[in-house]
Amino acid sequence: MLAIRLVPGPDRPDTLVLPVQPGGPDRPAALVPTAPPPGDEVRAEATALLPVARLTGEAGEVREHLRPGGTPARLVLLGVGAGDEPDWRRAGAALARAGKDETRITVALPPGGAVALRGLVEGLLLGSYRFRMTEAGGAPALAEVDVVVDDPDGLAAVLATARTTAEMTRLARDLTNTPSSVKNPEWFAGQVAAAAADHPDLHLRVREPEELAAEGFGGILAVGGGSASGPRLVELDWRPADARTHVVLVGKGITFDTGGISIKPVPAMKLMRKDMAGAAAVISATLGAAALRLPVRVTTLAPLAENMVSGAAFRPGDVIRHYGGTTSETTNSDAEGRLVLADALAYAVRELKPDLLVDLATLTGANAVALGKRHGALYSDNDQLAADLLAAIEAAGERAWRMPLPADYVEYLGSDIADLHSSPDRGAGSVVAALFLREFTGDLRDRWVHVDMSAPSWSDDVHAELTKGATGWGVRGLLRWLATLR
Ligand code: BES
Ligand code: MN
Ligand code: ZN
Repeated sequence: MLAIRLVPGPDRPDTLVLPVQPGGPDRPAALVPTAPPPGDEVRAEATALLPVARLTGEAGEVREHLRPGGTPARLVLLGVGAGDEPDWRRAGAALARAGKDETRITVALPPGGAVALRGLVEGLLLGSYRFRMTEAGGAPALAEVDVVVDDPDGLAAVLATARTTAEMTRLARDLTNTPSSVKNPEWFAGQVAAAAADHPDLHLRVREPEELAAEGFGGILAVGGGSASGPRLVELDWRPADARTHVVLVGKGITFDTGGISIKPVPAMKLMRKDMAGAAAVISATLGAAALRLPVRVTTLAPLAENMVSGAAFRPGDVIRHYGGTTSETTNSDAEGRLVLADALAYAVRELKPDLLVDLATLTGANAVALGKRHGALYSDNDQLAADLLAAIEAAGERAWRMPLPADYVEYLGSDIADLHSSPDRGAGSVVAALFLREFTGDLRDRWVHVDMSAPSWSDDVHAELTKGATGWGVRGLLRWLATLR
């Protein structure tokens, strides 16, 4: 992966990248002042290039200029738009993709530079992401980036935050992109164990099927019952000594979703290896919180199961007894996510008693129907908590939209044979799923947020810092939010 260093001045660079900002109606695009400034000769040359290079200064524009015999030998003009964090992220991603055989570059940042640095680093690391199994094919050549700033020591923490955020997002992408022939619940739990082993203050407990049965995790067992690879419940705890707030994160971890007996048609099933993107995001965010030593306790629950078709699979019409005793009637084995989440939420509320409870899940196709491919659907009864999370998600470069929890839909959750019906065919898909989950939040009902992130967990194309495939959605927003808690 890319090595990024902060340096106080350019060290005889081969390739120097200078930021460019848009002009106005009758002003051409202009060089962004940098600290320290490039030499007069280089500045004059770059300025003369601007009109010829036909740059608008829009974020992500890249123009290379060769200077035979010169130092630097190449000048790269990089559009950075408004110079805010999203535009620097976009510019960083474009830069990572631009030079096909560029191995080392030096980038000059504006004075101060914290916002630019964070955006640049996240853009570089996320835009250059390739899934590890296919890396041999097309990994970008860029290996080293020197970033010129006026105060390298003062910005070291910003670099660390950006790097950890991007690395954890890359981890979530790797986990989510991994094919389900590799990624069964046991494998996923093993990946968490390997990642957590680096941190002495992270505690991991993985429950196996026998323990799940002994403790009454009926939803996880029902959904995982049809698979040759048994379910697991991962519980990962970041518990810093100075923490005053305790957050529980829950992530849906279906390592493959066939739909079960209510089997999915081919087009709907083909990408269902991504149905653990919620678990990947909350685990990666927790590892990030530990790496950054955020002073907040984070316990993360990832119920892991493979929803398969077999003689041992659960059936439509079955009644499931969830952790804590609430029963649910299921009429569609494809509505499996809420069944495993119900157990984890009930366990969190009864046993962990946190201050705040947040779950992320690739829960319904209806998320994309309502909001398109780039917004998560966020639900909460707590306006402040919803606003805080939405703000963090937005600031981090992800997107979500708040959705309603209408009181008059609750009656749709009624069942003749159980406490609840898990997949009523009235109401709206993503909304009734959220209402079902809320039934398991007990005392934390008003301190709970659910995000249906089926849509933004995957990108069909290269878009700014997103690459094709898993996006790692949620890691960046969660880490920003956790960093605000005390
Ligand atoms: N994993 C799917 C939801 C999904 C769909 C995620 C598309 C990503 C992309 C979930 O388990 C599911 O099948 N949901 C059903 C619910 C229905 C049976 C009530 C759905 O959305 O159709
Ligand atoms: Mn399903
Ligand atoms: Zn699913």
